[in-house]
Amino acid sequence: MAEVILKKVNKKFGKVHVTKDVDLNIQSGDFVVFVGPSGCGKSTLLRLIAGLEDITSGELLIEGEVCNDLPPPERGIGMVFQSYALYPHMTVYDNMAFGLQLAKTAPKTVDEKVREVAAALQLDPLLERKPKELSGGQRQRVAIGRAIVREPKVFLFDEPLSNLDASLRVQMRMEIARLHDRLGATMIYVTHDQVEAMTLATKIVVLDAGRVEQVGSPLELYNHPANTFVAGFIGSPKMNFLTADIVEVGEFTTQVQIHRGQEISVAANSIGASVGDPCVVGIRPEHIRFGEKDAIQEGGVELSVVEQLGNECLMYFNTPQSADPVVIRIEGQTTIRAGDKRCIEFPEDYCHLFDRDGKAFKRSVVGETTPLLVVTP
Ligand SMILES: Nc1ncnc2c1ncn2[C@@H]1O[C@H](COP(=O)(O)OP(=O)(O)OP(=O)(O)O)[C@@H](O)[C@H]1O
Ligand SMILES: [Mg+2]
Repeated sequence: MAEVILKKVNKKFGKVHVTKDVDLNIQSGDFVVFVGPSGCGKSTLLRLIAGLEDITSGELLIEGEVCNDLPPPERGIGMVFQSYALYPHMTVYDNMAFGLQLAKTAPKTVDEKVREVAAALQLDPLLERKPKELSGGQRQRVAIGRAIVREPKVFLFDEPLSNLDASLRVQMRMEIARLHDRLGATMIYVTHDQVEAMTLATKIVVLDAGRVEQVGSPLELYNHPANTFVAGFIGSPKMNFLTADIVEVGEFTTQVQIHRGQEISVAANSIGASVGDPCVVGIRPEHIRFGEKDAIQEGGVELSVVEQLGNECLMYFNTPQSADPVVIRIEGQTTIRAGDKRCIEFPEDYCHLFDRDGKAFKRSVVGETTPLLVVTP
């Protein structure tokens, strides 16, 4: 178990500035998930921590010790790659034993550790097989097993489940959660999968173009995104954004007018803003309601597409206030069809408000302790 601290860490590949002033404080036993668009520098950050890339400037501390120049094997880190990177000519047993043998561990101890980990990951019947004789999920478990036997202080996972089918992903996701509970180790995990990020993380780090945009628990990020980037990145389908103007500034409630449409209230503190300032109203697809009042256009909006997924429905409409079609998500099934008109409401407690630069105004709802996510009958 170990804490990992990054202080103003930068990485440049020649002229390409990939990692920018990253400050992170990862506590012992944390499960930290890095998310962000492709190319934003997630893998680079993992590789900097592992020692597979040199840090251009800044400091990396593991267990209080500056590790910038420490060779990778001495950092106490185990890394699991998306590609698994198993040795194809070695058996499962040898793949798992190799790192310990390199470290000159006594053969008896190597054997005990490999068998113990293999049992925990249900790999014992497969120990004599080669990687090519295994399924994707089994190879994945070998890659994890190979990392575990060395008892690293910190685990780094780079999209470890992205090659697996949906049901195996769920199974492996739960295995990784159990592994974290059992070992209590510090884990740093990269994924593009919203469900993995929300369910596994104690802390999510949202990255954009090499910078940290926000760090927080999954629900903090969902309930209180700091800006439109995080608001649009956490949650699926993503939050809707509509352009508006501030009509009345307030401490607990701000009155805004959706452009050329209705006035609505948003439970946010807009002190410091001025009447007439442009702003952006954000609302998640699951928080739009059908109702009497129309939050956007007189006479209702016309739904252009209705997607029935069985357990839920996604409905879309176009409006000049939003660059993308606005999406509504409802539980269950619907008789609404494409072409139907409906009035919609934006409940004030569920709206988010951002200034013209995309920075969030503080919401007046308390987040987890208010009935934000509780559906009342
Ligand atoms: N060795 C290198 N030399 C030059 N540029 C590099 C090198 N490695 C990575 N980059 C660049 O750094 C940026 C970040 O890459 P990185 O692999 O960290 O992204 P990522 O967030 O992991 O993306 P993905 O989600 O697609 O895996 C990219 O623009 C990439 O082209
Ligand atoms: Mg990557």
